[in-house]
Amino acid sequence: MKNVKYLLLVGIFAIATLSFTSAIQDEWVVPAKYKTMKNPTDAKDSENIALGKSLYAKQCSSCHGKKGWGDGSKAKEMKGDLGDFSSKKTQGDTDGELYYKITFGRNDMPAFDKKIASEEDRWLVVNFLRTLAK
Ligand code: HEC
Repeated sequence: MKNVKYLLLVGIFAIATLSFTSAIQDEWVVPAKYKTMKNPTDAKDSENIALGKSLYAKQCSSCHGKKGWGDGSKAKEMKGDLGDFSSKKTQGDTDGELYYKITFGRNDMPAFDKKIASEEDRWLVVNFLRTLAK
């Protein structure tokens, strides 16, 4: 009987731990349609990059930090993994995946489909994220 109670406790603890960690750090699920979506803008154009940079400064850096290291002034209040935009992990995303994350958000990451209403502008932010690679 004692053993059963013990096992039950261990089981409950394991489930609680698992759901807690998976809620915080599970991978984003990006629909295939977005993963392979083609960036319609010219990522090399310097005017485009300047526009993306100013959008980033206004809309993203308060949480993600100036260089995308996840160290903005509001970062400490955020739940979830802000990521590091200079890292291989974030840079390994396709443009479409980044576009999806910016457009729809999740948890504490806001959706920008209305705040940056122009699709083109959201692609320009993606282009700017590429300049943050290490
Ligand atoms: C209010 C704070 C906040 C703002 C503003 C914000 N984000 Fe986020 N972002 C988050 C949080 C929190 C997460 C982690 C969400 C999760 O996984 O639960 C995140 C996750 C991300 C991710 C996924 C992590 C990775 O490395 O792939 C990307 C990409 C991203 N944000 C880009 C942006 C961009 C671009 C902007 C501006 C248009 C922006 N975010 C604005 C809080 C913010």
